[in-house]
Amino acid sequence: MKIAIIGAGYVGLVSGACFSEFGVEVTCVDKDEERIRGLRDGICPIYEPGLDNLICSNTVSGRLRFSVDLKSAVADADIVFIAVGTPSRRGDGYADLTFVYSAAAEIAEALDGYTVVVTKSTVPVGTGREIKRIVYEIADEDTIDVVSNPEFLREGAAINDFMHPDRVVIGAETERALMMLRELYRPLFLSDTPIVETDLETAELIKYAANTFLATKITFINEFADLCERIGANIQDVSKGIGLDGRIGGKFLHAGPGYGGSCFPKDTLALVKTAESANSPVRIVETVVDINEKRKINMAHKIIGACGGSVSEKTLAVLGLTFKPNTDDMRDSPSLAIIPELQAKGVANVRAYDPQGMKEAMNLFQNVEFCSGPYEAMVDADALIILTEWNEFRSLDIGRVRSLLRSPVIVDLRNIYDPINMKDAGFVYFSIGRAPILQPGS
Ligand code: UGA
Repeated sequence: MKIAIIGAGYVGLVSGACFSEFGVEVTCVDKDEERIRGLRDGICPIYEPGLDNLICSNTVSGRLRFSVDLKSAVADADIVFIAVGTPSRRGDGYADLTFVYSAAAEIAEALDGYTVVVTKSTVPVGTGREIKRIVYEIADEDTIDVVSNPEFLREGAAINDFMHPDRVVIGAETERALMMLRELYRPLFLSDTPIVETDLETAELIKYAANTFLATKITFINEFADLCERIGANIQDVSKGIGLDGRIGGKFLHAGPGYGGSCFPKDTLALVKTAESANSPVRIVETVVDINEKRKINMAHKIIGACGGSVSEKTLAVLGLTFKPNTDDMRDSPSLAIIPELQAKGVANVRAYDPQGMKEAMNLFQNVEFCSGPYEAMVDADALIILTEWNEFRSLDIGRVRSLLRSPVIVDLRNIYDPINMKDAGFVYFSIGRAPILQPGS
């Protein structure tokens, strides 16, 4: 089987590399010539653990190719995936489908024989139907079928998520298209991955339902974390206590500074808009969006409180800038709201370090000093702020941290340290949903 993937971004590259690993012949197509040239030379444009090796080995074996020539890649393919970007449209929050629709039209013009066109990008409900309308204006109905096959990959764990998914969702309307997709995913059928076969609209909605549900779960636990701080309870025990209930499940119950990334903020907003347009509002999700936005600013105020009520003239060491560990992705990262708010409130210096995000962060922040390591960031800082739970921040040399900081204040927005240990090490330690343990006299 041969497939083409339109869009060599995050979803396209991970899917392309993994399908080729299954033994399928894959061509990843992108308009960005520099990106394609780089990929041919083995340069992976995104940071995702394991992806560069997978691209390399499958390129060498000849199963994975990169091209700017959509026409020949599509003409050759049995299945074409649309994996182009769907950014939030500026101003109104709707998903911008310009790239999806123009890719669909180009595919319809280029196909040669029966082809299945599959959306992998996260697209609002109704997009598949519109794609059908577009392609049937150009190509015969018996030469093309449209399928929705949303992806559920997490950045930082995408290869594993692709190879061992909880489920595969296929929204198809003809048996012929369904058979092709079943064949493509056969390696996963063999390992008993559940496959949900449904119609186009339902498949599209499943993706939004999953992301908005997870965003809601995080927001729920974040609000409980605030409540814990007020009443002296411990959010981690609350998470464990409810997560052990099989009906709730323990995942996505880590309280933090609010969800970020390229998916949850965009998808929650897009779903709210879809529901509004359908005259069937999803008030829970509307509230989640609102709470999460405010939360990031509230985190800046929590930091200010930990610094004695003012950050004016102070130096803060910030560890972690990306929206989560194991990625270089800065999109909608809480740091993008927290740091500017601290600056607006008069912080003198922000000394930051992130293992992968600094290249991108340099374009996004002003007046931030980027440091070469976590300890460099701490020199003479008035407080240490942990924004992202990179593994390398989990076991810092606490004695060294103590000696570098001007005052022993730590604000840990990811709960990666134990409050009692921190107190014993002489810190005034603030975390999320666990009452601060103050030093006597502080
Ligand atoms: C998310 C979904 O988890 C994937 O299933 C989905 O395929 C993807 O969006 C997408 O739509 O493409 P991702 O954005 O890579 O994946 O990251 P997550 O691991 O889900 O984390 C999202 C945000 O939630 C991060 O800011 C993270 O710090 C936060 N989070 C996550 C918490 O605050 N607490 C948690 O318990 C879990």
